[in-house]
Amino acid sequence: MPEVDIQKEKEFFLDIPQKNETFFLKGSNNHDWGFKNRLARIFNPVSGKTVMLAFDHGYFQGPTTGLERIDVTIEPLVPHADALMLTRGILRSLISPAVKNSVVMRASGGPSILKELSNEQIAVDMEDAVRMNVSAVAVQVFIGGEFESQSVLNMTKLVDAGNRYGIPVLGVTAVGKDLVRDAKYMRLATRICAELGAAFVKTYYVEKEFETVTASCPVPVVIAGGKKLPELDALKMARNAIDQGALGVDMGRNIFQSESPVSMIHAVRKVVHENMSPQHAHEFYLDLMNEEKKRKQR
Ligand code: R5P
Repeated sequence: MPEVDIQKEKEFFLDIPQKNETFFLKGSNNHDWGFKNRLARIFNPVSGKTVMLAFDHGYFQGPTTGLERIDVTIEPLVPHADALMLTRGILRSLISPAVKNSVVMRASGGPSILKELSNEQIAVDMEDAVRMNVSAVAVQVFIGGEFESQSVLNMTKLVDAGNRYGIPVLGVTAVGKDLVRDAKYMRLATRICAELGAAFVKTYYVEKEFETVTASCPVPVVIAGGKKLPELDALKMARNAIDQGALGVDMGRNIFQSESPVSMIHAVRKVVHENMSPQHAHEFYLDLMNEEKKRKQR
């Protein structure tokens, strides 16, 4: 039993109204506490943005260049990412449970690069996602693809399961090789994901009218990095996307296939969280890379 509180003078701060803050993330105010807490572990509440490190590529294409040995190449990047996007197999086998990052776990899969990629199924039970303490699950949505409806249904089933446990779902818009990658398509795909319950949406950056994609999507949009570009171009893409309303990047190859991956993730963070220009971020990247080279030569 605690001791009886005999203090006579109590302070109720009657002149201070209780704070009644709205949640910092676009379109996310009406979720429950645990759901928002998970989103706030992915998106930095100070900058409102996220740098997610994507290394889930193996789920359909095996040991992708740069991901042959995740324990060797990705482990040094982990402390610098806000969130790790990966599969449950890699999470259990190679990622220390002591990491501080939030986890966005891939929850769809099935076909390999040898088959029709849109023919995915749900590949993770939500209970297992809870068991692994993930902050969100990710599902590929193939708008315009052969198995479009099936992939949308995968997402809505995960949204229902996620809502039971307070787990947000990231809708990943997948662009098939026959589909045009333009703002019109991205508006369609991102909006369908948001309308059907995705808490946030990942899409590709497009050069023209990307701001109309983020404007018409009522929940946060993050961009995938896409194929490897020269570092300056990747930083320019991240800058443009943020300036046009994206709330972060979910970047893989442009980080782990860089000549200096740790320098690159630091530079990406400067752009995303500190509003740095791509030119300055690139100089920062080169400085870090040169320091790294000198260290190795010693
Ligand atoms: C998407 O299907 C992949 O699984 C990656 O998560 C995504 O493409 C992001 O990686 P990258 O920046 O290499 O495109």
